[in-house]
Amino acid sequence: MIGEKERVPATEIFPELTHDVIARMNHAQSARLRDVMEIVVRHLHAIVREAKVTQGEWAQAIDFLTRAGQMCSESRQELILLSDILGVSMLVDAVDNVAGPGITDSTVLGPFYAGEQRELAQGDSILLREEEGEQLVMTGRVSGPEGQPVANALIEVWQTAPNQLYDVQDKDQPEGHLRASFRTDAAGRYRFQTILPVSYPIPDDGPAGQLLAALGRHPFRPAHVHFMISAPGYRTLVTHLFFEGDQYLESDAVFGVKHSLVVRPELNNGTSTVAYDFGLARELRPGGGPPSFVAGGKA
Ligand code: BEZ
Ligand code: FE
Repeated sequence: MIGEKERVPATEIFPELTHDVIARMNHAQSARLRDVMEIVVRHLHAIVREAKVTQGEWAQAIDFLTRAGQMCSESRQELILLSDILGVSMLVDAVDNVAGPGITDSTVLGPFYAGEQRELAQGDSILLREEEGEQLVMTGRVSGPEGQPVANALIEVWQTAPNQLYDVQDKDQPEGHLRASFRTDAAGRYRFQTILPVSYPIPDDGPAGQLLAALGRHPFRPAHVHFMISAPGYRTLVTHLFFEGDQYLESDAVFGVKHSLVVRPELNNGTSTVAYDFGLARELRPGGGPPSFVAGGKA
């Protein structure tokens, strides 16, 4: 039996196991995969040592992750929600995105981007049925970092309906309601009609919601309109515009608010209008895309 004196501090328990796991990755197919997995293993082992995780707690953690995976479907991405509520999505955004003068801040993509969507003409409405919400016009320009207009940029927008749901969450909404794509004109301008979005709870009927409740946190996001803006030669910008005065601006469940993205609609010919110019960063990465763990991009 080991006496109290001989006990090693928890942070030093079984170091050779960590070395062994890391050493066995030496033949990994990609150096990037090996390097990142080494860091993952070091930190995972450090968590177990520092928190002195019990076998019962680890079984609970495995069960939690299993339920999160089982909850995922075409229309539900519980793992993105987990990443979002733990601030991981915003940290990856901060690490990977370019910021600076002339470049609009980015924020989380979220789980409700639905891929290719109908393309509308400048000035069209993104509604497919009437709604109670206040009419809103969104307009502005898209430019490059030196202020040059970006013509023919693809602007994809999506938002919730007044019932706090996206079309992909709500079978009663017409598919494609409150989402659409536009192209900027030769001067980089865009313009579309919508309604003021509302603040809403992220889906909280699964493991991510249980974790929020157990941590004493609310699930709400401040009202916002999502934008994804892409053009050849530029970094795709994933962002939102938020609205001044929203009660959740300081406590967004997914930590996505940046002050530069908060707007105040102004009355223009009797209609609430948001005028917002977006700045894109140049794409400087080789191949124009993000690096990946393995060739071809699929693990
Ligand atoms: C969203 O804004 O659509 C969203 C982002 C993160 C988690 C849930 C929803
Ligand atoms: Fe959203």
